[in-house]
Order: sequence, then structure tokens, then C-alpha cells
Amino acid sequence: MEKEKVLVTSALPYANGPIHLGHLSGAYLPADIYVRYKRLKGDDIIYVCGSDEHGVPITITADKEKVSPKVIIDRYHEMNKKAFEMFGMDFDIYSRTSLPLHHETAQTFFKSFYDQGILKEKKTLQFYDEKAKMFLPDRYVEGTCPRCGYEEARSDECENCSAHYEPTELINPKSKITGETPVLKETSHWFFPLGNYQQWLENYIEEMDKKYGWKDNVLQQCRSWFKDGLKDRAVTRDLDWGVKVPLPDSEGKVLYVWFEAVLGYISATKELGLQRNNPDLWKDYWQNPGTKYIAFIGKDNIVFHAIMFPAMLKAWNDGNDDKYIYPQNVPANEFLNFEGKKFSKSRGWGIDVIEFLNLFPADPLRYTLAANLPENKDTDFYWKEFQARNNNELADILGNFVNRTFTFAHKHFNGEVPPKGKLEEIDIQMLKANEEYPVKISALLEKFKIKDAVLEMMNLARAANKYFNDTEPWKTVKSDKERCGTTINISLQTVYTLAEMFSPVIPFTAEKMFKMLNTEKRGWFDAGKENLPPGHKLNKAEILFVKIEDKTIEEQIAKLPQSEETEEKKKEISYEQFSEIDLRVAKIISAERIPKAEKLLKLQVDLGYEKRQIIAGVAKFYSPEDLINKRVIVVANLKPAKLFGLKSEGMLLASENNDGKLKIVEIDNSVEIGAKVK
Ligand code: 2FM
Ligand code: ZN
Repeated sequence: MEKEKVLVTSALPYANGPIHLGHLSGAYLPADIYVRYKRLKGDDIIYVCGSDEHGVPITITADKEKVSPKVIIDRYHEMNKKAFEMFGMDFDIYSRTSLPLHHETAQTFFKSFYDQGILKEKKTLQFYDEKAKMFLPDRYVEGTCPRCGYEEARSDECENCSAHYEPTELINPKSKITGETPVLKETSHWFFPLGNYQQWLENYIEEMDKKYGWKDNVLQQCRSWFKDGLKDRAVTRDLDWGVKVPLPDSEGKVLYVWFEAVLGYISATKELGLQRNNPDLWKDYWQNPGTKYIAFIGKDNIVFHAIMFPAMLKAWNDGNDDKYIYPQNVPANEFLNFEGKKFSKSRGWGIDVIEFLNLFPADPLRYTLAANLPENKDTDFYWKEFQARNNNELADILGNFVNRTFTFAHKHFNGEVPPKGKLEEIDIQMLKANEEYPVKISALLEKFKIKDAVLEMMNLARAANKYFNDTEPWKTVKSDKERCGTTINISLQTVYTLAEMFSPVIPFTAEKMFKMLNTEKRGWFDAGKENLPPGHKLNKAEILFVKIEDKTIEEQIAKLPQSEETEEKKKEISYEQFSEIDLRVAKIISAERIPKAEKLLKLQVDLGYEKRQIIAGVAKFYSPEDLINKRVIVVANLKPAKLFGLKSEGMLLASENNDGKLKIVEIDNSVEIGAKVK
């Protein structure tokens, strides 16, 4: 089989907090399984990752703790590096974007775009804190929403009513650093004209999809960006922390974190070359048209990897003699939730990787996450499922088969591989399965169908157990020792195949299995062959999986905050206060979309005693037709507000799921329009 040259990257996690299980499922475990499989197959592969150490959230954490950003990134870089090690990630390098080598690399790209005349300089008005002597990023400014009056609105958008506006419109702006009223000051920034690359990007993605099959979630997001039309994107910021803009008179300006973070993959590869005394190593991957580049990410990173990064590489390639390759595939995953809700550090919902791995070994976690990867939709981690996967699958199927086989080999065959006798149909079928599974699993892994591949691995273990049961070696050991030897020989060959098939997913256990078999890995497609000659001496058996007791799992579940604790509680009110709210049943008589307001619908409702116009933020969840004639509950005495310049007199009651989905509270036709709700 022809060897491939492969470059794999996983999104560089922010060094701004500990990674949790959701991160592992999104961009790391799938990549690690793929990489380990490719290595076994003998492909020439490198796997690059590292910490993303710039960006506003890091400076905010540092400000909160009153330390420098360097303290924060050093802490979390080390912590996350250790978490990945404990989890068994097989990176060739785990680098960091604070290294000078990265700064130089990112600056070289910026400079090339600047010199080619690609970047556009634009002047904008930005909030400036005169006391702190700095421009304030959007997240550093708070004020009153000009549309709905919400008092904690951001400088450019309101999370209460979803309105977008110019920072100049924000009422009573305050700097989150000093609490002072910031002034608007002119600043200039460099913009990358993404729109100029739209046609090229559309062709590139279409071609890659045709050749290599991109995932639907990735294609859909890209197409929706294309439909809206790609716009100029600012690639600089007024900030101290980051990669300095390499131009004269650009004091206090850094490159936008996403602009440089994606280039971090390249600088990390350069660093790898230096570590290996091969400074040109990076060129052999990044600038070798024969390299297949796969970028593993979570769904929130799609636009940066499938649109922004390729456009930047194209811009480089257009103006330089050395040419980069483009991602051949960007297999982005959806999200993993935790026990039915989003991971939330502030609410204590979820578990950090190090915390988890101090309690349980890595392999059962790797297996559980891999069997349930959010490849096509969001999935959940449940403690009970973790227990079941460990006990009922790893221990009862895989562990049990290996254990039975070794017990027989040691007890009845002197710890050696017995020779095979005459083969029966059932033996031939089992040997055939040994040859077929590696081929089947390989095809799935090549297509990034990792979850399905893991299912097949366990299916091979199931088939092996069935073979053991059906050939009844506990009977033949007395009646026909040669026949028994055949079963044990084939079972041991199957343990070998299983060790090799499972090794990308549960590498620590696979190592134990190879040690027990007293042999080395031979390579993916040799797995199904007969790898253990008769007479081969085995080592003694080890325990592969320890069952997890109910008590242990219950302790973990009990540690989770009770549901009310995870919710923001509101302060108590009196009955009188509640009764001041005039809740009424109303019928929706018309509904229409509002141009440019994606989230809002304009409704006319009948309250019995009068008709009203209500602007409701439900357009993402209901189309106008769905709403006509519905009976809903309206807060009838809410102070009128203007949304998008339209009058809104009242509010509909709606419930909000954890994922932000709204469902309007409805009431049936037996209730009169205008009826009071108490
Ligand atoms: O979402 C994140 O955690 C980003 N730090 C990912 C960056 S990926 C690449 F650009 F480096
Ligand atoms: Zn608002």
C-alpha cells in the first residue's frame, strides 16, 4: 500500500482555563485516533498542536486576577499540556503562540500581505479609556441598549434584544476597567479583503468536497457565509497583548488573535523541526504538494479554518515563490454536552480533564467519548453511560475475551501458543473476520467516521467472544485437546488483532495486551494475519479493566450542583409585586419578518379589548405562518419600547432551553381572548 504524507493539526486551545471533556471530543480525541491509526499504517505523519496564548479573554482573566497575561498563559499552558499527556495524546509537538518564532512567522505573513498591497487601512471610531490610557475592545465596554434599555449591553450588540448598533449609539457607556465614561477616539486598522477570495474559496471547497468528501455541517456553514457575501475583516486590534503589528507607527497595535492563531500551526511545525535538528522539516509538510493536510476543529472554528486560513494561504501563495498547501479536509465536530447541559465553568457544570483522570484511567474515558463523538450532532457525556461502557463493553466483552483466552493458554498449554489442528468452518470464519475487520475499520477511519470505526472494533470483540463460546474449549480440553488448541490459537491471534485495532482508541490497554502477547505491533494491515507462531511464549495476564461500582458513579453525580444551583436565582418578590404584572391571553392575528432583523418578527395581537403590535425575538424558531391564530400569553402592561425603530407594546411569554431555543407558551382555544392569567 502506498504511504501517504500527512499533516494533522488540532485547534490550538486558549491558555485561559483548563480543558474539559467537551474539548477532547471536539478536536483532540478524533484527531489522535486518526493519527495513531495512520502511524500504525506506516504513513509519514506529523501531529501538531499547542496553546493559543493571545486574545482579549486572556487579558480579562489576567486583569481579574491582577497578574500579567504571562502568568495566566504559563499556568494554563502547563496544565493543558499535562492534561493531554495524561489523556494519551500523541502530539509530535505541543507548542505555544507566545514563542518569538511564532511572532516572527505571523508578522512575516502580515508583512507580505501589506507589501503586496492586499490590506486596506480604514479609520474607525473606537472607545478609549483615558484613565487606563487604552482603546477598549468591545467586551470591555458596557452601557444601556439604545433599543430596549437593557443596562448591561455590549458596545456593539445587546444580548437582551439581539440588536446590533454602532458603538456611538450605546447610551451611558462605561469602561469595564476603570468604570469611567470612555471617549470615542479615531483609530485606524488593517483589513483583509476576504471578499476578493470568495470565488476562489467557493471553487476550492467544492473541489475538496468532490475529491475528499467534506462533512455536511462544514459545507453548510461555509455556504451560508458565501451566501451573505464575505466582507473585509479587521486583522489588527488596539491592544498590548499579542503579536505586534510589524509596521512603523503602529505602537499599541497587535494582530487579531485569529489571524495569527491559525499561523500557529506553521510556527509549531517550525519549532518541531528545530527540536529534531531539521530546520526545513516544516517545508517538507507545509510546502509539499504531496502532503495531505487535515485540520481537526470544533464547529465554532469552522469559518477560521475553512475560509479565513485558506484565503490567507492563497494570498501568500499569490505573492511569493514558496507555496503552501491548503487543508484537504476540515472534519469539524459538533459539541459534547455534559449530563444534558452545556459545560459551564462558572456554574460548576462539567469536569476538567485532569480532575477526571485523577479518578479514572484514560482508556475508559477515551473509549466512552470515542463511541459517542458529536460527529453529526451534539451528544452528551453521562456518568452512567461511562460506567456502562466500561463495565458492559470494555470489561465484559473485550476484557473478558482476553482474560478467558489467556487463562486457557496458561492453564492448559503451558503459556504457549498451541498449534492449530484441522480447521472447521467456524475457525475459517473467525480467521476471515481477523482479516476483514482491519480493512473495514480502516475505510471508516479514512473517512473520519471514527464513531462507526469504534463500534466495529467492539463488534470484532463480540465476534471473538461468540467464537470462544461456540467452540466450547472447556469441553474440548477434555474430549479433544487438539481441537481445543485450535480455538486457543485462533483466539490468541484475535487478541493480537484486537490489540492492534483498538490501540488508537485505548492505547494504554493495547500496550498491556501486546506485553501479554509478548510481541510488538506489526502494522495495521498485518494485524489480521497469523502473528503468533505455535510455541510462542506468552507473558502472564494482567487486568485490563476494573469495573466501576454504582457507588463511585453516584458520588460523581452527587457532586454536580443541584439544578437550581446551576440556575441564576432571582430575588424573592411579594404577591403584590407579582400581581402588578398584567398577564393576558392574546391571539396572534398577523406575523411578518423584519428586513435585516434576523431574530425578530413583527406581530399584531388581539387582546380582546384592544389590538397591539409586539416585536418578538423568535424568528429563529418560528416562521410567521406558524404563529397565526395561536393563543399566547402577553405581558400587557410592559412599558412600550422601540426595537429596530418599531414600536413594541408588550411581550410574549416563552421558555428558553439550555441551548437558547425559545418556545412560546401557548394556551388552548377554550380560553377567551383577553382572559387574565394569574
Ligand atoms: O477556540 C479556540 O479555543 C481557539 N483558541 C482555537 C484556535 S485554532 C487555531 F486558530 F489556532
Ligand atoms: Zn437591547
